[in-house]
Amino acid sequence: MIINEALTVNGRTVNNRIVFQPMEGCDGTADGNIGELTQRRYMRFAEGGAGIIWFEATAVCKNGRANPRQLYLTEQNVDTYKNLLQNMRSVSLEKFGYTPLMILQMTHSGRYSKPNGTPEPIVAYRNPLYEKGKEDLSYQSITDEECDALPEMFAHTAQLAEKAGFDGVDVKCCHGYLFDEFLSAYDRKGKYGGSFENRTRLYLNCIDAVKNALPDTMLVTTRLSAYDGFPYPFGFGASEQKEIDLTEAEKILAELQKRNIELVNITIGNPYLIPHINRPFVGGPENGEIGVQRAVKITGELQKAFPTLKLILSALSFKGADAINFAEKRLENGDCSLVGFGRMTFAYPDFYCDFLENGSLDTNKLCVKCGNCSKMMRAGGVAGCPIRDKEIYLPLYKKYMEK
Ligand SMILES: Cc1cc2nc3c(=O)[nH]c(=O)nc-3n(C[C@H](O)[C@H](O)[C@H](O)COP(=O)(O)O)c2cc1C
Repeated sequence: MIINEALTVNGRTVNNRIVFQPMEGCDGTADGNIGELTQRRYMRFAEGGAGIIWFEATAVCKNGRANPRQLYLTEQNVDTYKNLLQNMRSVSLEKFGYTPLMILQMTHSGRYSKPNGTPEPIVAYRNPLYEKGKEDLSYQSITDEECDALPEMFAHTAQLAEKAGFDGVDVKCCHGYLFDEFLSAYDRKGKYGGSFENRTRLYLNCIDAVKNALPDTMLVTTRLSAYDGFPYPFGFGASEQKEIDLTEAEKILAELQKRNIELVNITIGNPYLIPHINRPFVGGPENGEIGVQRAVKITGELQKAFPTLKLILSALSFKGADAINFAEKRLENGDCSLVGFGRMTFAYPDFYCDFLENGSLDTNKLCVKCGNCSKMMRAGGVAGCPIRDKEIYLPLYKKYMEK
């Protein structure tokens, strides 16, 4: 099966096609360090056998943190990260004879910044779709000068990631966070708004700064929203009628290719406003199956337009017991080069081991697509699976829901 085959990305070997997608646990410490639950989650991931473990959104600056417990890599805490990575590699090496490629997702949460627990939005532009009913709130549009300072911050975090022992870094551009929002800043004035070149300037400048700050052995990659799911001019990748339009996503992939970036993690949607597009679930406004098909269609079109790029397909947890077989078919069909799992890793981090051992997944351990991990996060708590990882997360879930 292709899913078990190795793949080379910018000269680095990925041992199979399974990607553990970035999943925020909101369980770091106030100073951005790894907390007890963070440690536990990643050690469980290390036992999962994935080819790539994509570390969750990690802030590059304090005011861009999505919550007061979001990871934030600094000179002061880098050694704890290093320790965790070493332990993960040892466990994986002993169990599987290989280590996963580990990538750190670097983020500025932009509109969704809550560094002190309450919203302190930093926006690319005022967006009536997101701000409905909140017209009185003072949303701070980031200035061009503040934008100019970001490439250095990303470069600095990337260097810390290298020091910690990560194999690569992701300049995050998805899910409505800062750089993704810039992609649809059609009406913003100045050098970061308007034309395609201007709207992608900050993102690409950050990628260039990160590449310049790192040795060639460090992978530079990105998680890119190819379609926000909002009509033009309030979202990226869509017409005024909200139809998918991948013209500019393809132009971005061409820019990435020019920069010798081979690995791109494709995603879609905004988890705050249209979570069914981002992470298909049961009981949403559309059958989750439609959401999975949308993700496949978009990633497939992009993969076929850029056959030498290694694209990751997202949103596979919904497929449940059939997830691996479905993923294998997508690989065989050339819709993607790797397959990503998000919620499944919270519920059932050893799903791939079970598949290798038994040829099937254990239906008693599967993610049930209930959305409770997201509910915990939105309630301001830590995120985990209260159904399959009950002992730890059920009491916390109950506590948050009582509030
Ligand atoms: C609790 C939770 C936390 C998440 N954290 C991140 C994150 O840190 N970075 C990111 O790019 N996506 C994040 N996502 C999105 C997932 O990576 C993934 O794209 C999404 O859940 C769809 O995949 P799935 O259907 O396999 O869960 C998160 C999703 C959930 C539910």
